[in-house]
Amino acid sequence: MNADEFLLNKIKTYQPVFWRNPNKEETTKALKHIPLGLMDIEDAEKRLQRFAPAIKELFPETNDGIIESSHTELKHAEELKGITLESFSGPVYAKLDNYLPISGSVKARGGIYEVLWFAEQVALQEGVITLDSDYRALLTPEARNVFSGYSLVVGSTGNLGLSIGIMGRAFGFNVEVHMSKEAAAWKKEKLRSLGARVVEHEGDYSSAVAQARQIASSNPKAHFVDDEESVILFLGYAVAGLRLAPQIRPLLDETGKNLKVYIPCGVGGAPGGIAFGLKATLGDRVEVYFAEPTHSPCMLLALATGKLSDISVSDVGLDGITVADGLAVGRASKLTTSWMMHLIDGVFTVPDEFMLDMVRWLWDKEGIKTEPSANAGLYGIVGDGVHMVWLTGGSMVPEEVFENYLSKSQKL
Ligand SMILES: Cc1ncc(COP(=O)(O)O)c(C=O)c1O
Repeated sequence: MNADEFLLNKIKTYQPVFWRNPNKEETTKALKHIPLGLMDIEDAEKRLQRFAPAIKELFPETNDGIIESSHTELKHAEELKGITLESFSGPVYAKLDNYLPISGSVKARGGIYEVLWFAEQVALQEGVITLDSDYRALLTPEARNVFSGYSLVVGSTGNLGLSIGIMGRAFGFNVEVHMSKEAAAWKKEKLRSLGARVVEHEGDYSSAVAQARQIASSNPKAHFVDDEESVILFLGYAVAGLRLAPQIRPLLDETGKNLKVYIPCGVGGAPGGIAFGLKATLGDRVEVYFAEPTHSPCMLLALATGKLSDISVSDVGLDGITVADGLAVGRASKLTTSWMMHLIDGVFTVPDEFMLDMVRWLWDKEGIKTEPSANAGLYGIVGDGVHMVWLTGGSMVPEEVFENYLSKSQKL
């Protein structure tokens, strides 16, 4: 059995694997495969700044209208040694996107950014504002009236839908969210309570996205937020890298270590955009690894086989059933797989039990509330470095659902 067959055999039998990307290139070279640059990320940041006064009014819990999370060192990370996939040394930090204001997940970065991008397009087109206006003008009854003539349509495993729903409804857009059968019931309920239309699909995430795309295409006043192919979403996620780089660079210089970042991956947009933002700002000083459930490793299959989005987890006999609802994606994004091919350092897979155990561990030991999808990165902390595990969601999980996660964790 050669190495590729050995890997595939482990994947097919749901065993955790750590795959190091043999196609990774030096960062400046790898970035050339992506038709975007630092200027595009900076442009996205400027757009977010323009909106800050309006966001501050709508969501006073933000930092003056800027939606950002902090990071914190995990004080008990030593306890993870022996239960993660590889050995490691060096400090372990958590990036707290589970506490991102407004919708409590990493998907807020891209999702909210795309709603703002669309609101700006519409408002400029309809003469509500100019680029120099105070964007609080977007909150007037006249502006709301304009926005109520437009729709945002999205297909989502849950957290992207929440971001689009909360921000879209705050500006007065009609919002239609197409959810897969894996999507958590509380996320659907929350969206309905905001006045969004939730369409439930019997099929999986990919078919929900496909149907949403088709429905949106027949309505000229609808904007489809394409979780699989949107460059706008991608840039919204990438802003995270632009903001984190200056905060973390002094620590890298002081320790002489590289930053190693571990991000849960579903369709690939959120981790892909963040990886791009980090690599574009920190270059070869950052390594990025994606984490996927053993039951749904679509990005791993895409990159390890070279088939990109032409392969799905069911093609190799996997069931795609996982407690990590946000990562329950059978086929990775065409856009992201091709852009990540030479950029990221590796992908590892994570058993469901580990994610459930980490919901409890993070809560008991570090006082951090996550959902299972959010903490998958902990499993792959590897080698020496300044480690940063991206915690991607969970603060909005209702108490009874969170208790249920805790009760399923046995080992810790
Ligand atoms: C909590 C959480 N983490 C990570 C992800 C992965 O993001 P993506 O699907 O863009 O890869 C998701 C996706 O919904 C999520 O909900």
